[in-house]
Amino acid sequence: MKLSIVHQSLRDLAVDVVVVGTRAGQKERTGGLRALAEAVGPSVEGALESEAFTGAEGSTVRLSTLGALTAKTAVVVGLGSKPVVDVRAFVAKGMAAARNAKRVAFVFDVAVPDELALAAESAVSATYRYTVYKTGDRKPKSEVEEVLFVVPGKGVTKLQKAVDEGAVIGRAVNLVRDLVNAPPNDLDAPALAESARKEAARRHVACEVHGKKKLEKLGMNLFLAVNRGSATEPRLVHLSYVPKKKAKKKVVFVGKGLTFDSGGLCIKPAGSMVTMKCDMAGAATTLGIVLAAAELELPIEVHGFLACTDNMTGGDAYRPGDVFSSLEGKTVEIINTDAEGRLVLADVLTYAARLEPDYLIDHATLTGACMVALGPYRAGLFANDDELARLYLAAGEREGESLYRLPLDEDLRSMLDSDIADLKHVGGQYGGTITAALFLREFIGKTKWLHLDIAGPAFLDRPLGRYPKGGTGFGVATGVRFLRALAHPTKP
Ligand code: BES
Ligand code: MN
Ligand code: ZN
Repeated sequence: MKLSIVHQSLRDLAVDVVVVGTRAGQKERTGGLRALAEAVGPSVEGALESEAFTGAEGSTVRLSTLGALTAKTAVVVGLGSKPVVDVRAFVAKGMAAARNAKRVAFVFDVAVPDELALAAESAVSATYRYTVYKTGDRKPKSEVEEVLFVVPGKGVTKLQKAVDEGAVIGRAVNLVRDLVNAPPNDLDAPALAESARKEAARRHVACEVHGKKKLEKLGMNLFLAVNRGSATEPRLVHLSYVPKKKAKKKVVFVGKGLTFDSGGLCIKPAGSMVTMKCDMAGAATTLGIVLAAAELELPIEVHGFLACTDNMTGGDAYRPGDVFSSLEGKTVEIINTDAEGRLVLADVLTYAARLEPDYLIDHATLTGACMVALGPYRAGLFANDDELARLYLAAGEREGESLYRLPLDEDLRSMLDSDIADLKHVGGQYGGTITAALFLREFIGKTKWLHLDIAGPAFLDRPLGRYPKGGTGFGVATGVRFLRALAHPTKP
């Protein structure tokens, strides 16, 4: 999809559809709608009247331009009356209304780079559909090929840069969705690693892929334990982006990459298993963030570790009661083989911490308990450093991704005491998302660390706001915003 900034009159924009917005409850028409009414004539107000259009947020009216513009169709989008217009929602509505067009123009009142970046992100990601496995007539054909953002004033370069940056985020989000939606028979651990390698190569991101032998040599016995029941080898992917100029900070991301979680011998009921291809969303999000950081050439050194395997029930599967020694050194007694994510993460967090980052951040679809606590649309955030938590929560707030900080409650720590080993890997009946985070904390030493339990928002059973049904790409925008805030501490 080509995205460009133009300064042009509506009349001769070479597009199929022109989209304008209008606020609710205003007597005077302003901005795009006024320009449209001037160019097309009174039929515009007529059409709005006959649809009883009030400008309510999200409402749209489609009308003919009656030959007055090159574009045959105009779409008017209601922007509501909240003080701040949701640019992403405006563009998403317009894109949905223009779904069958090839070229679409959006008219903006003012030229604010940050808003145009959000507009571009939305244009790229708002009409996302996963169509890889649709065949013949069932595969949707049409797709918008070109989007113009019509802005007042002069000067294109700075605005075009903002648009290009927004598109980078949109594409990273779509890539994460594609990976999360991919079926687990095709996207197993080697395939996920291969996708990461390919995407990294296109953006000059270094990528090392470690197989089972290397994990054995390193001593990642918790990670390997999870893989024992599988017919497919595990993979540990290490992505690194080092900026050309001296980096201001080093940040290491880690992602849970369970390409399928059957629960292992403590097998899940069928109903809970059906969406478990989504259990690699943390790895996909990690990949998306590192790729975007590299494309945006942020002055931060960024690494990403993707811990990829599935959790199966083969003859050599790990069992409750087994004890394994971790890379960090502590021994761990297995309680429930469905709590596999924390085992894989434990070893990889230890390994990642050896890079001595300023911040270590993991994304994981870790616990159903997090959804019980916060509902399906909000991620649980844990951190052992208040400044890091503050920065991340602020980034989430700005990006409109819902996070909530939960406590690393010391009172619950003794639930992880084992009779025979240093630790057991599952706590008791209550506080399951907290005890999972407390378990992870045992493996990171003194590193400043933040853990995001994205079990809910990574994968939805119905669309919500800008997120489609299925894989959402949740966390990419916030991660990139956080890195930007580190790069420019004064302007968030
Ligand atoms: N992958 C699941 C968590 C999950 C649940 C992700 C629902 C997305 C949607 C994780 O591996 C798991 O099974 N956790 C168990 C832990 C329990 C056995 C201590 C859970 O949450 O039930
Ligand atoms: Mn599990
Ligand atoms: Zn899992």
